[in-house]
Amino acid sequence: MGDAAKGPTGPDLAAGVTLADLREGVPLLGHVGDDAVMLVKSGAEVFATGATCTHYSGPLAEGLVVDGTVRCPWHHACFDLRTGEAKGPALNALACHEVVREGALVKVGGKKSAPRAVPSIALKSVVIVGAGPAGLACAETLRAHGHEGAITMIGAEPPGPVDRPNLSKDYLAGTAPEEWIPLRGAEQLADNKIDLVLDAATRIDTAARTVTLQSGRTLGYDALLYATGAEPIVLPIEGVKQAHVHTLRSLADSRAIAKQATSGGRAVVIGASFIGLEAAMSLRARGVEVTVVAPETIPLARILGDQVGKFVQGLHEAKGVHFRLGKKPARIDGSQVVLDSGEAIPAELVVMGVGVRPRLDLAKLAGLTVDNGVVVDAELRASAPGVWAAGDVARFPRHGELVRIEHWQLAERQGRHAALSMLGRGSPFSDVPFFWSAHGDVSFNYVGHALAFDAPEVHGSLEGKDAHVVYRKDGKVKAVVTLWRDALSLEVEAAMERGDEAAVERLVAK
Ligand SMILES: Cc1cc2nc3c(=O)[nH]c(=O)nc-3n(C[C@H](O)[C@H](O)[C@H](O)COP(=O)(O)OP(=O)(O)OC[C@H]3O[C@@H](n4cnc5c(N)ncnc54)[C@H](O)[C@@H]3O)c2cc1C
Ligand code: FES
Repeated sequence: MGDAAKGPTGPDLAAGVTLADLREGVPLLGHVGDDAVMLVKSGAEVFATGATCTHYSGPLAEGLVVDGTVRCPWHHACFDLRTGEAKGPALNALACHEVVREGALVKVGGKKSAPRAVPSIALKSVVIVGAGPAGLACAETLRAHGHEGAITMIGAEPPGPVDRPNLSKDYLAGTAPEEWIPLRGAEQLADNKIDLVLDAATRIDTAARTVTLQSGRTLGYDALLYATGAEPIVLPIEGVKQAHVHTLRSLADSRAIAKQATSGGRAVVIGASFIGLEAAMSLRARGVEVTVVAPETIPLARILGDQVGKFVQGLHEAKGVHFRLGKKPARIDGSQVVLDSGEAIPAELVVMGVGVRPRLDLAKLAGLTVDNGVVVDAELRASAPGVWAAGDVARFPRHGELVRIEHWQLAERQGRHAALSMLGRGSPFSDVPFFWSAHGDVSFNYVGHALAFDAPEVHGSLEGKDAHVVYRKDGKVKAVVTLWRDALSLEVEAAMERGDEAAVERLVAK
């Protein structure tokens, strides 16, 4: 959030810079009044946009310009330079400014208003089941692209769409206030004529095109987005129903964990997943004694490989997290977790982070094709007419196979993509998957998707916090993890997007 706090830097763009000051595709950071603004030259055109990412205020002038877009170096949000429109993880568009040429000078003028879009298909009513990032991005894209009919977003989780990644990180650590967590307030939704209904959908009738809610209300739809996300798995062991045993998905979960996290208290985190480990680190920040119990011998090895897994374990141990690896919990016995080895670990708080499963009940009941996810086509259309699916619940075609990917960025982008398809502007979904994970002051960016991989190649130094790791299968680069090499991460993403394997090879060889 530094840029705004430091005040404007660089030239006064309202006064102008010379065209010769601009390098093709390289943002020039300056300001207009107190606003950080950047200029980007792209061929014969020059664009002026806000320079602060609308996600978590990343420095866009340090990002990458690709085909009329700028990408944020922190978590890869993508903004259209012409319209400012955002693609996940950012939701809010960037301000776009007028650009005026006066002789050799390029001057930045006032903010432009968003262009008025007219959809190819006019829908009377769209119902969105699930008020997560996929649902919200769908709703807001519909409006931004000219949909004038009703939008009803049904969410079973108060208060509505929340910044879920924060729930295991800063919010749980006590360093982010609760007002940062809701993605939209009631007023913002109302201004955009998005009707958020806090209720559970209990039935979808795809023939009648209706959705029934728990309250008994029935809603008709022309188009429906199924975006019910995923729910945490609860291990079938004795003692999981006690009040001090939690999973972590919702704001209520994170609040309840934070409430029981007392400094000097003891917690056991079951599962060395990303969420389990992030929760462990956040609980340490609150002064809690934390032990992570997991059946694998190296945390995250299945996803990141042994070397990175051991490095992550070391980061946690350096903060005082204890590990019991190669062990399973047998039962939760009052205020102790008893392991299969017989060891009993005292814990007044237990957090279970053992993975999630897609919420499919409603889809199965509705007769949608389901196979470890709601099966969709390239435009994210499910098997019934007028139904799309997006986010954690969707199983979509990628490189000749069906995949289901649980990433925040992808959920938002698929929600947006489904909205465009509903409006008759569909295209095959081909965005490169991306996620980030934070472990104290060390963050990873993961671009691509590698379910299986050969021995990962580590370039640079993990301990020196300057590295990238390449994951290949059958010789081809499937995914790349970076630590502090944000520019490389963006360039690899752009090359993967173009399908330019030679460029990916050149980049990862650096
Ligand atoms: C603690 C935590 C930290 C995370 N951190 C990261 C991270 O750092 N980076 C990253 O890339 N990803 C992260 N993720 C994963 C990311 O949050 C998910 O991929 C993303 O939320 C998926 O979005 P979605 O819209 O598909 O589903 P969800 O966010 O799960 O939203 C679905 C919504 O639908 C509602 N719903 C379900 N069934 C019904 C029904 N029948 N009626 C009405 N509503 C219903 C649910 O209550 C829920 O609110 C994290 C997840 C968690 C839990
Ligand atoms: S700060 Fe820009 S994508 Fe997160």
